[in-house]
Amino acid sequence: MKSILERAAKALAGPLLVALAGPAMAQGNCGPETLLSPIPQYAIKFRICDSTLFGTVTTLGTGWAAVGFGRDQFMPETDVFMAGVSGGVAYSQDAFAVLRNPPVRDISQDVTLLSATEINGVTSFSFSRLLNTGDAAGDFDLTNGAYYILMAYEETSDSLTSRHSWADASDQAYFFSPVPEPAAVLMMLAGLGLVAQRARAGQAHRTDSAAR
Ligand code: HEM
Repeated sequence: MKSILERAAKALAGPLLVALAGPAMAQGNCGPETLLSPIPQYAIKFRICDSTLFGTVTTLGTGWAAVGFGRDQFMPETDVFMAGVSGGVAYSQDAFAVLRNPPVRDISQDVTLLSATEINGVTSFSFSRLLNTGDAAGDFDLTNGAYYILMAYEETSDSLTSRHSWADASDQAYFFSPVPEPAAVLMMLAGLGLVAQRARAGQAHRTDSAAR
């Protein structure tokens, strides 16, 4: 079976039904991209640029698609973002799953839907969020500890209260750190300081020798 990303690439070559819900991705210093696709019908790609997580979820379906971050691999206590396209219009919600029930929409919406498309039965959306949104009530601070990535999608329904046709969690938990890491920046600055110091010392040495 063709992977969802191959299908998405093929779908994009066809007629476009694009629902743009935000500005194009503005990225700074970025870390490597991670791709998870436990089944051919669902894929998520993500990477961190500065203190922001950028991701793209692609599913073989016309209903909602979602990604979540949790301390364990189970749905309860998961910080989720659900999105899709209905009637050509993009929708999304930053929410929190307390139990195995429809996640509750956060009072503070801190995830940006950058784009969402539904083309030839393939739904894809891109999003960004600060690793630490500051919304302690609705979002996890992703810089604090390790998180599993929870994945879910509903094949046909755009109702955010309809249960997924498929859901799973990453095998491993991920540590999300800003890129470049503050420690790396400090080391770089310290290194630059050392180089400058050596250059000055070398210059002083040459001036001394010339004076002799
Ligand atoms: C209307 C929305 C949702 C409802 C009603 C719902 C309900 C449920 C129910 C009843 C189960 C246990 C049975 C099963 O495996 O199907 C479950 C499992 C699961 N759900 Fe959801 N869910 C929803 C949305 C989400 C979202 C948005 C995510 C993550 C992005 C998610 C992730 C999971 C995962 C990973 C499992 C399997 C692990 C576990 O049993 O906790 N769910 N969900």
